Amino acid sequence: MKIQVITLFPEMFEGVLNTSMLRKAQDKKLVEYKLINLRNFGIGPRKQVDDTPYGGGDGMVLRVEPLLAAVQHAMSSIRQAQDRSVTNRQSLVVLMTPRGKKFTQAKARELSRIDNLILVCGRYEGYDERVTSFIDEQISIGDYVLTGGELPAMVVIDAVTRLIPGVLGGTTSAVRESFAQAGVVEYPQYTRPEKFRGLKVPKVLLSGHHAEVEKWRTGQQRKK
Ligand code: ADE
Repeated sequence: MKIQVITLFPEMFEGVLNTSMLRKAQDKKLVEYKLINLRNFGIGPRKQVDDTPYGGGDGMVLRVEPLLAAVQHAMSSIRQAQDRSVTNRQSLVVLMTPRGKKFTQAKARELSRIDNLILVCGRYEGYDERVTSFIDEQISIGDYVLTGGELPAMVVIDAVTRLIPGVLGGTTSAVRESFAQAGVVEYPQYTRPEKFRGLKVPKVLLSGHHAEVEKWRTGQQRKK
């Protein structure tokens, strides 16, 4: 899977993409991340990417031309990759915006099956509405407004990457994931010590009876 991000602040992603599971997923060649700096597609010698809004008002608005040029650049790299491959690849362009459809686990699952995902990060006070003519979907990570789409894009990348087959540790994690799909959260887990400030680990987990443990876990999952 290839995930490309169009952003004015690629440096924001470095820590997140190069740590823990996301780093490992890249090392295992299960996913490839590409950061595309929107500034490179800016207009004129000053590489302008924004302008004042028509009709007046505060702040600046992202212009449509640099965004479209960046999306086309991301698509062209996909097409080259496609030409070399016999598989039937799919691509999807998603704009991160608080006006988008709410991001869910079901959406993460859907996106994890896309071969080429392009995430566009909005910034400043907004973007020219015509940008929406060149994207497939708009996604919001929640009903609050952030300074840009970078953190939301990282949330989507994290949620999607861990669903790519082979990224999660054991096979049991993948099996348990089917419950998450149904909207049921995982069972409670414990590790050492057996007793902490009067709080004990449920006895069944110390019993060594695998069938009993499974029954308890399933029951806990339902309850949760
Ligand atoms: N950009 C700013 N706020 C956002 C949000 N809540 N979700 C997605 N993109 C955003």
